[in-house]
This record gives sequence, C-alpha cells and structure tokens, in this order.
Amino acid sequence: MALIAPSILSADFANLERDIHDIEKNGADWVHVDVMDGVFVPNISVGLPVVRSLRKVTKLPLDVHLMITKPIRYTGEFVRAGADMLTVHVEADTEENTLACLKEIRALGCRAAISLKPGTPAEAARPFLPWCDMILVMTVEPGFGGQKFMADQMAKLRALREMLREENPGCLLQVDGGVDPQTCGVCKENGAQVLVAGSAYFRAPDRAAFVRQVQAEK
Ligand code: DX5
Ligand code: ZN
Repeated sequence: MALIAPSILSADFANLERDIHDIEKNGADWVHVDVMDGVFVPNISVGLPVVRSLRKVTKLPLDVHLMITKPIRYTGEFVRAGADMLTVHVEADTEENTLACLKEIRALGCRAAISLKPGTPAEAARPFLPWCDMILVMTVEPGFGGQKFMADQMAKLRALREMLREENPGCLLQVDGGVDPQTCGVCKENGAQVLVAGSAYFRAPDRAAFVRQVQAEK
C-alpha cells in the first residue's frame, strides 16, 4: 500500500482549516506543505506561521518540503513549528551543510529527507543515504503546481531503490509533481511509497476515491 500526501499548494489559502479537515475526512495519510522562498524556486508560498497554525488543527503528519536556499538556517525552526518530516533539496547548499541539516532534523526528533530536482542524478543522493528517512524524487521542476508529470524520472526511482537496498532499506521513496489518476500507477510500479498530489487531489470529482486509488497496491 502507498501513502498519499495531498499538497496544500493547491488548497484555498483563505480556507486552509476547512481544506485540511477535508484531507483528513477523505482518508489521506499526510499533509504536504510546500515552502518556497522565491530564490531557490521562482515562486513564494508559505512559511513558519502557516506550519504552526496547521499543527494546531490536525493530527495528520505534516510533510514539509523546503524549496529554499541554505535550508540549514531554518531547519530547527520548522521542526519546532510542528513538521513530522522535513525535506531539504541537495541542490540548495553544500554537501557538508546538507548533511548537517539531516543530522539536526533527526536530533530534534523529526524525520529527515532529501529531494532531487529532475536534472539531478540519483548518484547525488549517495552521501546522504544513511541519514535519510525518505528521498523525494521531483517529477516536475519545483516551484508550481499543475505541471506535466515527467515520466523520465522513473529510472531515477529505480536507481535509488537499488542504492537503498544495500545502504538503508527502510528509507521511503516519495514522488512529487504531476501525480494524478493516470500517473500514480507508474510511480508505484517503480517503487514510490509516498505520492504527493496537489492539483489532482483538489480537482478530483471524488477526492476520497482518488485517495483510495493512490493508496491501492496497483
Ligand atoms: C511543486 C511542489 C508540489 C506541488 C505539486 O514544486 O513541490 O508539491 O504542489 O503539485 P501538482 O500535484 O499539481 O503537480
Ligand atoms: Zn512539494
């Protein structure tokens, strides 16, 4: 069974509590929160106050995806704000600082993840594998919801699963970008265990049915 993490990037920000409770009611597993700084990606979304507020209205795990440059400046604060899983991009800082981020996140009792942009090879994850609870493979260029799924990222998922078999078999694989009723199957076939869906979740005519389809084995 796979997990689904609806992304609130496609929610109605004036009605976030309503949309979070809808995510709960429809049986989704995690809430995915996209944090963008306008520097690492060409868009600005939400930050610490929103994570703190969401923490108060849901018990669902908060899966916080940091698309910010030099995330080490803020990792501690996002954990304290209520993140249960905190993801940093390997492209956002030096290897040394990325490693320091992962160690700090774990030391604060949160789960730690790295993310790879579409142009970043699987091999870039290798130095971090023992320190990761999850690896996020972007299936669109980070920054915006509603983009087209990049099927060419499936080989990267398989390569990472192979690398993890030896180095960290318990580490989860996540995909984010363009996941919908048509593309969720191929993600699962290629080893994705946690699927993020923004626009497809919020526009689904029957959100609970979409949740069940993503969670299903095939
Ligand atoms: C994009 C974000 C995604 C986004 C996905 O940079 O990381 O989480 O919300 O949106 P969809 O599912 O619409 O591609
Ligand atoms: Zn995301």
